[in-house]
Amino acid sequence: MATPAVLVDVGRLDRNLHAMAASTARRGLALRPHVKTHKSIEIARCQLRQGAAGISVATLGEAETFAEAGLGEIFVAYPLWIDQERAPRLRALAGQVRLTAGVDSLASVHQLAAAVRRHAKLEVPVRVLVEVDCGLRRSGVAPADAGRVAVAAARAGLAVDGVFTFPGHSYAPGMPARAAADEAAALADAADSLAAAGLPCPVRSGGSTPSAAQAAGPGDGGPVTELRPGVYAYNDAQQVILGSCTLDEVALSVLATVVSTPAPDRFVLDAGAKVLGYDRPAWVPGHGLLPAFPEATVTGLWEHHAVAVTGAGPRPAVGDRVVVVPNHVCTVVNLVDELHVVRDGQVVERWPVDARGRNS
Ligand SMILES: Cc1ncc(COP(=O)(O)O)c(C=O)c1O
Repeated sequence: MATPAVLVDVGRLDRNLHAMAASTARRGLALRPHVKTHKSIEIARCQLRQGAAGISVATLGEAETFAEAGLGEIFVAYPLWIDQERAPRLRALAGQVRLTAGVDSLASVHQLAAAVRRHAKLEVPVRVLVEVDCGLRRSGVAPADAGRVAVAAARAGLAVDGVFTFPGHSYAPGMPARAAADEAAALADAADSLAAAGLPCPVRSGGSTPSAAQAAGPGDGGPVTELRPGVYAYNDAQQVILGSCTLDEVALSVLATVVSTPAPDRFVLDAGAKVLGYDRPAWVPGHGLLPAFPEATVTGLWEHHAVAVTGAGPRPAVGDRVVVVPNHVCTVVNLVDELHVVRDGQVVERWPVDARGRNS
């Protein structure tokens, strides 16, 4: 196998999928996994077989890939702006699957409703969830404003199912529990805002991988009804460092070859940013973890080089193969055409990345 190559350990993948399915079911939470992590039809089918209520995607392109494969329940968890190019695509999707879209402004509500209205044959309305911000300070209205957006959507003929939020500020040491608490508070306030406007709010959707274990669902008397984690399927270095998984639960890694050892404390791998991605939050020590060389740090990344310093540990030799656990798995998957599937230590098949590059 030529390197760099992306490996998937199916045993670990299966265990990760089962663990999240069981943990959400036990707590009375619906699971609507975000498939932008794996972009794989087979893995999404597996998640549905294990009880997922549907899938979440980030783009219409991802939705199209999964709709064409016959998946019928899709939430675009994104504040969609339906311009002229997207309107026919959205209408086609809405005629094909039970489609839910994210909205977080009156302008996007009107744009979406206008795109749907132009389709006379559309019997099933597009459903919407209003996005609220629970602390990430990305997209989403303040929870108290959710009712205003929901009323506009209902008046425009869209079916309002409730609200969603992304507690992405869970991505820092010590933050998952606080982000889960913020998520619960924001979803409860947003549901109150809809109730004050006379609208029910049956769906209160949250979930990031680091905060998923602490989400306040029905089993804990909390307001969250469903979770949309994605990374948990494969896990990555960020999750290991945050404590949401162990190294043994990381199902995707990059196999690289040592191409140079220019100094006694330094070695260079053939996996650069074009495979590992550039993601590196300040709290992550390097550009990926090296399980076989725990004292080494990947200090530098170029397009086709990763430079590692050994610390007090040993140095591999030129030609050795080294496994790298990437910092952020979603970007790695989007960078490669296929994955090498490993079962019991052997590469047994290759999987395509079905929705690779479907980012618009
Ligand atoms: C809106 C939304 N929902 C769910 C997720 C999945 O969370 P995670 O990547 O932590 O698994 C993401 C990730 O970026 C997201 O943006």
